[in-house]
Amino acid sequence: MNSFVTGRRLARELGEWRSGAPAYRALAERIRVLLMDGRLSSGARLPAERELSQALDLSRTTVAAAYSKLRDDGYLESVRGSGSTLQLPGRERGEHSLQHSLALDFTKATSPAYPGIQAAYAAAVEELPNYLSHDGFDLVGLPDLREAIAQSYRDRGLATSPDQIMVTIGAQNALNLITRTLYSPGERILVEQPTYPHALDTFTQAGARVIAFPVRQDGGWDLPEALLQIRRAAPTLAYLMPDFHNPTGMSMSLHEREYLAAAASREGTVLVADETTALLDIDRGQMPPMATFSPNIISIGSLGKIAWGGLRIGWIRGSREVLAQLLRNRPAVDLGTPMMEQLVATKLIQDMPSMMASRSLDLRRGRDTAIRLLKEYVPRWQVQVPDGGLCLWINTETVSSSALALAARAEGMGIVPGPRFGIDGAFERYLRLPFSYSEEQLSEGIQILGRIAHGVGSDPLRMPLQAVI
Ligand SMILES: Cc1ncc(COP(=O)(O)O)c(C=O)c1O
Repeated sequence: MNSFVTGRRLARELGEWRSGAPAYRALAERIRVLLMDGRLSSGARLPAERELSQALDLSRTTVAAAYSKLRDDGYLESVRGSGSTLQLPGRERGEHSLQHSLALDFTKATSPAYPGIQAAYAAAVEELPNYLSHDGFDLVGLPDLREAIAQSYRDRGLATSPDQIMVTIGAQNALNLITRTLYSPGERILVEQPTYPHALDTFTQAGARVIAFPVRQDGGWDLPEALLQIRRAAPTLAYLMPDFHNPTGMSMSLHEREYLAAAASREGTVLVADETTALLDIDRGQMPPMATFSPNIISIGSLGKIAWGGLRIGWIRGSREVLAQLLRNRPAVDLGTPMMEQLVATKLIQDMPSMMASRSLDLRRGRDTAIRLLKEYVPRWQVQVPDGGLCLWINTETVSSSALALAARAEGMGIVPGPRFGIDGAFERYLRLPFSYSEEQLSEGIQILGRIAHGVGSDPLRMPLQAVI
């Protein structure tokens, strides 16, 4: 989808773009970083030189020189009369080939499959013949699976019936369906800052005006700011991750849950609680699901993190009225969830306590290893120890994480820089490090980070670029 980037938006995304290099090169380099890590998309049209020079308070010659450098390097195509469009040069196009070229890929916060998954597939194959006489298009989910998901909420203390559950093709698909159904272009959506990047992508592609309130490692969810935003901007949706928030790993306290649920309900904002990471407890213990605090909350869940990303099974829990609305809209998004995967998911959910115990063990090992290695190789970086989830949210204090991510690429390592999790170029000094990898991978990756962090400083130009994020 081609989009038009205004001068003001680009200025916000650029954040702290200046470095020791000449301004035109620093500007070109930062635009390239934004393209590489997905903050600007290939095909996006950049603002006219005059507009950007005004937005950045720079001479037009500098902007023209930056655009010219991007053109020379193959990142920009300019056609007289129709502006300048970002593009990935042939060698760097296609995320797939790039991902495979990385020796160490820390760009995804995921784990390998739960060991019991193969047995679940084998059992599902046995059952498949019972379903082959049906047409196989399933927009709501198999009754047994919906009941198993409802039971998992009841086990956590929240009364839920199967007709409050819709099975989806993962949580991302659920979020897309909710957004398309409940949101109209031009309205506002409230998110946490930082937040999950692909939620941001979904909202911005739907034309949303995204507003944010902070989640801080030293203070939690900024409730007064959230309330102010909800009151002032009347967002249609508020998207939150109450448990093991991605990327900070934090969980809302009981008070924060109650407060945000009440505020959203009072002001007519629909709260969407993404609980994709909620089952990844290491040493926190159980918390009540967000929907315990208001019947208007829509919850999203997934087996992607606890069982396997390749399963692509998620769900939505909501009121019957909301589910009926979602059902009417679903055919525009997809025509149902695959049968085989639903059968597998039904088996796996019945195995939930073992899945959680197995994940918890692996995540504890990963977390403790990563913390130990960071202390050894990059002792200046500030990191809080999360009690669940998959990631460390590192405050490097001085290092530009965009520059660091580029430098890491040159070493064959993929890592996502902080600003991918924020709006307006925030979190340049932060880095997300998933710890759901093996001890060897963590050791190699953190040693690379330690080695390159000294050379990077805040200047992305010093490091050669090898690939796309
Ligand atoms: C917070 C959050 N929501 C949703 C998703 C997407 O989940 P799924 O793989 O089930 O589509 C992810 C995956 O990274 C996530 O971290």
